[in-house]
Amino acid sequence: MAYKRVVLKISGEALSNGSENIDFSIVRHVAHQVAELVKMGLEVCVIIGGGNIWRGRQGRDMNRVTADHMGMLATVINSLAFQDTLESLGVPARLQTAIEMKQIAEPFIRRKAVRHLEKGRVVIFACGTGNPYFTTDMAAALRAAEMEADLILLAKNVDGIYDSDPKVNKDAKKYDEISYMDFISQNLKAMDTTAVTLCMENNIPILAFGLSEEDGIIRAAKGEKIGTIIR
Ligand code: GTP
Repeated sequence: MAYKRVVLKISGEALSNGSENIDFSIVRHVAHQVAELVKMGLEVCVIIGGGNIWRGRQGRDMNRVTADHMGMLATVINSLAFQDTLESLGVPARLQTAIEMKQIAEPFIRRKAVRHLEKGRVVIFACGTGNPYFTTDMAAALRAAEMEADLILLAKNVDGIYDSDPKVNKDAKKYDEISYMDFISQNLKAMDTTAVTLCMENNIPILAFGLSEEDGIIRAAKGEKIGTIIR
């Protein structure tokens, strides 16, 4: 196995099918692959965005901090759906939140999260970093550093990182590999650059790949040539 402990970041949008905020067939598809990683002996942390339910200020003239709190709560809804689905597949999972809501989930306690991983449980981290003005990408980078993860698996709706938006520019070129510095200086949008900076400082590679690729998560975790690696 190429890696021992990974942080899987899934965008909230990836869980939606356009008509439903949460398409449980997609959630199960992801959960099945996570179950496979656990079976392979990998320790898995999961961070899910909230954009399928609430994104930014949604064009409204509203308080940024309040809007970000709404986004954090959206990540809890997605995370509960994911925890429930994992457990229905027989994979023990624990949800920890960066903002305390003890009736719903454990608060984030790093040492407890490590223990859960060591016991073969998947740990899902919700509420981002618990702070407004930060993204769930940033939460993935922060938790990866705190948990001493070997890799961030960035599951996206495109199959890697391109030099321009492949949905807009047909001639966009995909990178197999890109350095943290090149990613930041080219102002690429695949991941929040603050998060990439934190990964650079802590030497955590980020593998971006398509969630819709057959067994994408498993292949990425096995170290197969897939997507784009930032390192
Ligand atoms: P071990 O200590 O390794 O046995 O871990 P454990 O998670 O099985 O034990 P614990 O007694 O900490 O938790 C039992 C269950 O309660 C698990 O499903 C936890 O996720 C849950 N739990 C623990 N602390 C909290 C909390 O503060 N709030 C909520 N809502 N659930 C909690």
